[in-house]
Amino acid sequence: MWCAVTLSLIAIFHLLPDDGDPYGIVRRLVDALPSGSYLVLSHGTADFDPGAKELAAAYRQRGLPLRPRTHAEVERLFDGLELVDSGLVVAHR
Ligand SMILES: C[S@@+](CC[C@H](N)C(=O)[O-])C[C@H]1O[C@@H](n2cnc3c(N)ncnc32)[C@H](O)[C@@H]1O
Repeated sequence: MWCAVTLSLIAIFHLLPDDGDPYGIVRRLVDALPSGSYLVLSHGTADFDPGAKELAAAYRQRGLPLRPRTHAEVERLFDGLELVDSGLVVAHR
């Protein structure tokens, strides 16, 4: 019997600083999935809004490790996976 899982990581990984090993965590979770499964992941970015950096600083001042990542940094979270349409795009796309 064929079984696939969709792993949903929505609005989580921008709360993980680099020293929290976000890439290793995604890898470990994905490695546990059966072949043919899917990963859906959303992530905050400052790519389109320079004000997002100030927002992240305000979060950090309050003890929340908000870490916006660039398109390339988020794309790395999908390393080794085949991106399906529409790929890595802004949420409304
Ligand atoms: C904005 S909420 C998103 C929740 C849910 N995925 C959704 O889309 O409604 C962020 C979630 O990340 C969790 N979170 C924050 N830091 C985390 C961490 N270091 N490891 C795992 N989860 C974390 C919080 O507890 C919270 O449930």
